[in-house]
Amino acid sequence: MAADRELLERAEAVFTPAYHTYHAIGIDEGKGCRVTDRDGKRYLDCSSGLAVLNIGHNPPRVLERVMRQLPRFVHTGGVYLNETTVEAAELLTTITPPGLDMVFFSNSGAEVVEGALKLARHVSGRQGLIAFRGAFHGRTLGAVSLTSSTSRYRERYHPLLPSVYHAPYPFCYHCPFGCKETGCTLSCLAGLEELLRHTISPREVAAIIIEPVLGEGGYSPAPSPFLAGLRRLCDEHGILLIFDEVQSGMGRTGDWFAALTYGVTPDIMTVAKGIASGFPLSALVSRREIMGKWPAWAHGTTFGGNPVSCAAAIGTIETIRDGHLLENCRTRGAEAMARLRGMKKRFPLIGDVRGMGLMIGVELVNRDGSPAAAACERLLDECLQRGLIIINCGPDRNIVRFIPPISITEAELTEALDILEEALAAVTGAGDISAPAPRHGP
Ligand SMILES: Cc1ncc(COP(=O)(O)O)c(C=O)c1O
Repeated sequence: MAADRELLERAEAVFTPAYHTYHAIGIDEGKGCRVTDRDGKRYLDCSSGLAVLNIGHNPPRVLERVMRQLPRFVHTGGVYLNETTVEAAELLTTITPPGLDMVFFSNSGAEVVEGALKLARHVSGRQGLIAFRGAFHGRTLGAVSLTSSTSRYRERYHPLLPSVYHAPYPFCYHCPFGCKETGCTLSCLAGLEELLRHTISPREVAAIIIEPVLGEGGYSPAPSPFLAGLRRLCDEHGILLIFDEVQSGMGRTGDWFAALTYGVTPDIMTVAKGIASGFPLSALVSRREIMGKWPAWAHGTTFGGNPVSCAAAIGTIETIRDGHLLENCRTRGAEAMARLRGMKKRFPLIGDVRGMGLMIGVELVNRDGSPAAAACERLLDECLQRGLIIINCGPDRNIVRFIPPISITEAELTEALDILEEALAAVTGAGDISAPAPRHGP
């Protein structure tokens, strides 16, 4: 604790509070699913560094690729080509949904979301953009105009990008049309059609952007018929469909991308987070006939496609492919889901367990169904004390996102779920959970 505390004090002196971390520990080493803090305490990391380390910390094949690239050169910018970056793009297009075979590399999720908006507007000649309420697409001004996972992220940044409209996300546990009791009637699709009838003409809509599995906004997969319907609607009106797979991509759902799990192919897809195992890289992917209409100088980047990051991306894809980690994700995901659903029966604090592969949300609710935010904070702390790192999400921060590396072993998964169960027992047996210990960061 002493070394962590000292680091925390130094960090607080030098960083704005906006640069916050979920947990007040400083890590000294990371390997696979485990990290060690500066005081020597070991943790199982089921946050995957914010859904980035899909194959764990310091994966050997990624390090090997990076070490081979480093002494040769580390940067090419937009000045000349290099083989590593071309190879990474070629390899990426072997795992993307059918037809998405051209790439623009950038550095972060928000940056490729911006790129997707620009591409859609440029190619379609239309201005309108539709996103879904509850979605998270990033923090830059264009991306935050789409983001509505919480109004806190938008507060004091207005005016935001004009001609952006929000339709209800098909968040089934909180169905905006109350379908929980009556069964799904795909009212969310009807809600979108209403938007097109009353608020913006479909002829003016460049693109509809959606996270096929809602991430930061609550870890909730969209129902399959909704995404199929969305595809049909976009085709009918010549609207480009963008899947933001920044969080759900790179094996997280048990397929390379959730689009493949659903069997729905978007026109444009954003990829980031897990693509290079922690090295900064993101990719905008689309069809040749769309990308081909985006001329030189219409977009650009200095660092996007950095050869060291691209070497890491090659190592990441090879590790997932050759290590059969998609299969591991599906198997471990099914085990985790079964155990968590068992815990739901024992702990009324758990209102819902949902997800795909190893992208699982555990929503905590009070007896009256209201969000159990304080209990969730407490649960995170109880887990941390016991050596398990997990994080939360949702507008009320009452949803645990269970996102271990997809390379997690059966024994590690059992250990993580044992700790979680013990921590749940501690929280629910603790009596008053309305006033948690203050946490670092907002
Ligand atoms: C779905 C989605 N899109 C975009 C972003 C923004 O990514 P970044 O933080 O790399 O800008 C995130 C980040 O969490 C995300 O989950």
